[in-house]
Amino acid sequence: MPNTVQIVVDGKTLTYPLVEGTEGERGVDISKLRAESGLITLDQGYGNTGSCQSAITYIDGDKGILRYRGIPIEEFGKNADFIEVSWLLIFGRLPKKDELLRFRSRLTANAHLHEAMKHTFEGFPITAPPMAITSAMINTLGCFHPEFFSLKDEEVLEEAAARLISKIRTIAAFTYRRVNGLPYVYANPKLRYCANLLHMMFSMPYDDLVVDQEIETAMNLIFILHADHEQNCSTSTVRMVGSSKANLFASCAAGVCALWGPLHGGANVEVLEMLEQIHSGGLTAEKYIEIAKQKASGVRLMGFGHRVYKNYDPRAKMLQSVCEKLLKKLKVKDPLLDIARKLEELALKDQYFIDRKLYPNVDFYSGIIMRAIGIPTNMFTVMFAIGRLPGWIAHWKEQHDDPTSKIARPRQIYVGPVNKHYVPTEQR
Ligand code: CMC
Repeated sequence: MPNTVQIVVDGKTLTYPLVEGTEGERGVDISKLRAESGLITLDQGYGNTGSCQSAITYIDGDKGILRYRGIPIEEFGKNADFIEVSWLLIFGRLPKKDELLRFRSRLTANAHLHEAMKHTFEGFPITAPPMAITSAMINTLGCFHPEFFSLKDEEVLEEAAARLISKIRTIAAFTYRRVNGLPYVYANPKLRYCANLLHMMFSMPYDDLVVDQEIETAMNLIFILHADHEQNCSTSTVRMVGSSKANLFASCAAGVCALWGPLHGGANVEVLEMLEQIHSGGLTAEKYIEIAKQKASGVRLMGFGHRVYKNYDPRAKMLQSVCEKLLKKLKVKDPLLDIARKLEELALKDQYFIDRKLYPNVDFYSGIIMRAIGIPTNMFTVMFAIGRLPGWIAHWKEQHDDPTSKIARPRQIYVGPVNKHYVPTEQR
């Protein structure tokens, strides 16, 4: 039978539909498998499990292809702007001039935080990890906007999205000011998205930062390249939380927590720490590669490898050229960049990395760019969160618009003790 897959269980043939995507990817819909056979599928890390059908982002990991709403990522590299890319991801098409203008106005009008939120910032110790503050403050933001807990139509969703995308930037800047004991600087409505972020982070109340055009362009590209990456760990978390009909703020706050981990968004911090360790620890790139190849060492070449890309991550390629250009323009001579170049050169011709198809990923160069701009390492993953937010919102919306979506509730194979009995304390 065409378009079906047959599975034989205990001598009985069961037939399941094949689902085909617009790029020819195929999957088997096993949603009735357990009811018909008693079997579940086991797929640790979900490497082989499709959790939904999605029309937002397409990745071909073998060919190194990434497209947002069908448009190759490389086409956003020259003229696109993070705000229009955000709208594209959320609403499915490039915005017309008036739509983009309206969205921008909404962002500008909502850059401020409720003054009461400043007290919440004050409540965090200055040692608090910025990702913890960011996640907590997104949930706090929700407390000030219960009118957006239920998003009835696209107009209301656009308003909520504009607030989140605008205010996460202010949250990030205030987080930086808080942990560094600096006075808060408010947004300047005359500045564009990235320049405004840098202004709120680095201006002083008595001394406005003049944002370099090249730096603004690099930040814009970093945000665009991080904006979505289909069902990655944090996006799947947003969808998992959202599947219970939790509101957009709570779902995105959970996404920040998932992004924090070193195997996901936190890898950009780990890359920098690895380069610093090599630089100041008397190690060479050659030695580090040898250590990373030994599983027992527990060390990995951070910024290398990807669950989906088994080829060069196209985002890493774009960032590499921006990185070289920016460092030249800023006249930064960064020894860490030389180490990064050496590591890349060695790994790409090393049989261990070739056999496992391990290539540089997006985190390999983004950290060096942010360091050159003056963003401290502990803020790198917060920058990633700003970039990824439109993707989270797009997935949350797609899931809520889908009448067939269900609460996410995986199964398990139980491997614990069987049929034991409770023993009172004195008899144990
Ligand atoms: N250095 C050394 N060996 C590696 C690396 C690495 N960076 N990545 C994978 N391997 C080896 C791994 O030991 C395994 O070897 P073997 O087949 O001998 O057991 C093989 O390659 C497959 O690795 P895996 O852990 O099964 O692959 P995965 O798809 O589960 O993991 C990954 C993907 C990104 C978590 C992993 O490559 C990694 O830990 N990379 C370093 C961290 C990093 O850069 N993360 C950022 C990911 S991109 C941005 C994002 O998603 O947030």
